[in-house]
Amino acid sequence: MREEFPILHEIVYLDSAATTQKPTSVIKSIEQAYKRSANVHRSAHRLARENTASFEDARNTVASFIGCNREEVVFTSGTTHGINLIAQTIPLTPKSIIICSELEHHANFVIWQQRAKQVGCTIKYIRVKNNGLDYEHAKELISQGCSVLAITHLSNVTGAVTDVTLLSSLVKKQGGLVIVDGAQAVAHLPVNVHDLGIDAYAFGAHKLYGPTGIGALFIRSSLAKTLPPFLYGGEMIEHVSVTETTFAQPPSRFEAGTPAIVQSIGFKAAIDWFTKNYSHSREQEIYAYVKKMLSTLPKIRIFTHPTSIACLSFVIEGVHVDDICAFLDSQNIAIRSGHHCTQPLHTSLGIPSSLRVSLGIYSTKEDIDACFLALQEAIQVLS
Ligand SMILES: Cc1ncc(COP(=O)(O)O)c(C=O)c1O
Repeated sequence: MREEFPILHEIVYLDSAATTQKPTSVIKSIEQAYKRSANVHRSAHRLARENTASFEDARNTVASFIGCNREEVVFTSGTTHGINLIAQTIPLTPKSIIICSELEHHANFVIWQQRAKQVGCTIKYIRVKNNGLDYEHAKELISQGCSVLAITHLSNVTGAVTDVTLLSSLVKKQGGLVIVDGAQAVAHLPVNVHDLGIDAYAFGAHKLYGPTGIGALFIRSSLAKTLPPFLYGGEMIEHVSVTETTFAQPPSRFEAGTPAIVQSIGFKAAIDWFTKNYSHSREQEIYAYVKKMLSTLPKIRIFTHPTSIACLSFVIEGVHVDDICAFLDSQNIAIRSGHHCTQPLHTSLGIPSSLRVSLGIYSTKEDIDACFLALQEAIQVLS
């Protein structure tokens, strides 16, 4: 399977949480699609009909991948767009209470913080405990009232997995909505949005071996039907006159303008490829290995939670994270340094930034060995 990623001959890539490499089958599907360009849902000629069928087929694939109906899948440009869409369209009033957490990526933090300011409502943040959510605090906050819970499924820093089913059952008792940021989880966990008992789930294709520029937002159909459009324009209407416009049913209502047609074909190819090739147990073995190896390094502080999978972060006392990252880069090893778009989490951990190793489907123990040896050398040279 690694032959599908020629770049892996050149570098050790341990930054898949930022974006994954794309297999040749996905790249080929994109190339083929560009050679047969035609817009969708408009013209009646053959090429347009074929592209419309491929676009809608991609929607079917996404729907079965996350366990929902095709009408419940809205194509977006990615996770960030999906969360903005749902945050701007659900009904909120000054009396609403939004609950978010300190574990969130800025895409699921800043959006809700700013939305709360816009509406003039309350927003509360679940604290972090042991590098995951503080569930006691979550229960306490939710029991005081919750209109919306916006929560990550899998932390992009500590790899902690959220017990979404537990939290959604608590929020439902309060009559609230549950919106989940699935950007990281879809590439590492089986996801069934109806089993999770949630109202919306956002993710993108590019962390799932697919193209950039496309993602999907699941919106529970009974909710979607009640929501207003997010963006206006072509394709999202039912009827337009000089005095009035009526809007299409979901998902079209939320898909104004020409969609990411080629990317949708690449998205489908990526899901098909991923479903065939992914092994959770293999990934878990490599994850246990990286944790074990890194824990033997001197002066290291590792941030993981008992539920963690797929990625972890760490700091080395006395050495700047950027210097370590640059040192590894000089040996063609790609890991991430910085705050990983999670400044509130880093503040609660008491550090400005960290290093992150994140796994992809192509990661091997040899990659971890190379990273470990380079880190050992970096510590010697830089401290
Ligand atoms: C947990 C999480 N949420 C949201 C995002 C935002 O994804 P995108 O930038 O693809 O919209 C990321 C990206 O790193 C992420 O890791």
